[in-house]
Amino acid sequence: MADRIVTSDLNGTEKEHEAQLRPQNFSEFIGQKKVVENIDLMVKSSVIRKAAMDHVLLSGPPGLGKTSLAMLISKAIGSELHLVSGPAIEKKGDLAAVLTNLKPKDVLFIDEIHRIHITVEEILYSAMEDFRLDILIGQGASARTMQIDLAPFTLIGATTRSGLLSNPLRDRFMAHLNFDFYEPEMLGKILMNNARKIHLDLSEEAKMQIAMRSRGTPRIANRILRRVRDFALVNKSKQVEYKEVKAALSLLDIDDLGLDSMDRKILSVMKNYYHGGPVGIEALSATLGEDKQTIEEVYEPYLLKEGFILRTPRGRTLSEKAAIHIA
Ligand SMILES: Nc1ncnc2c1ncn2[C@@H]1O[C@H](COP(=O)(O)OP(=O)(O)O)[C@@H](O)[C@H]1O
Ligand SMILES: [Mg+2]
Repeated sequence: MADRIVTSDLNGTEKEHEAQLRPQNFSEFIGQKKVVENIDLMVKSSVIRKAAMDHVLLSGPPGLGKTSLAMLISKAIGSELHLVSGPAIEKKGDLAAVLTNLKPKDVLFIDEIHRIHITVEEILYSAMEDFRLDILIGQGASARTMQIDLAPFTLIGATTRSGLLSNPLRDRFMAHLNFDFYEPEMLGKILMNNARKIHLDLSEEAKMQIAMRSRGTPRIANRILRRVRDFALVNKSKQVEYKEVKAALSLLDIDDLGLDSMDRKILSVMKNYYHGGPVGIEALSATLGEDKQTIEEVYEPYLLKEGFILRTPRGRTLSEKAAIHIA
């Protein structure tokens, strides 16, 4: 998984690189106008009230800036950010320990919150609503609930699949903000900022070529940018031209439409095994030997958005555009 261009999990070095290119303030956070407008208002209100910001749910495909935004929020509020991953919390006690550690106005960021275990999730309800932990002690007739007060905190939940959140959890978020794929123009701005950060002189054409082949995703744009930088270094190029970009894209196996090898594999399996569909996600996942969740959360959103795949009640079908592309 680590070598692929589209991943939801990051390995160690990737994380370090990401840290280097993360927006350091709101002016570096490009695009997602609606999301940023909402957050800006909520942050300002929190600062005036000298109280925790309202809980917010951020949803959208991987690599669009959810974690980055959470970092900027806690910075703007002047509070500490605590990052946890939903599926990694195995027991109620683990989450209780995190919650009781929070200071007033702190931000708790739960990534992949749709994958949190239901029994663990339940303690979030009173924590979010009343800043209180209800803990059941003992068993049977002698069982009783103990209540622990928590500091007023902000929960930021991030999810690639907001539809999979339980209703009680979803209802407790005051704001639901959805991230969209970025237009090439916005990715171009991000690339310009980041090229400067890594001391790379990018030609206008090179910039737009990367922007158009990044699946609307800043994380992917950054990955291509780093590979382009490698080429420029090795070739001792002063300014990066389309030539370096083309070489990097071909090394990363990204085609003219910005699709990577897994995208193309999905489309060709649909075409050659299932005659263009309709095909269900289970069957597709079995044929591809790829996890169902990864297909649905990482690959499909962009393929759907760009009209390569269509969703029908009977399953996914291949569009004419896709059939022509992989012919
Ligand atoms: N709006 C943005 N402006 C600038 N850079 C961004 C933006 N969104 C994402 N990025 C870049 O993409 C990388 C991945 O974003 P991240 O916040 O980790 O995405 P997510 O948490 O949604 O998977 C970040 O390191 C950052 O460099
Ligand atoms: Mg993230």
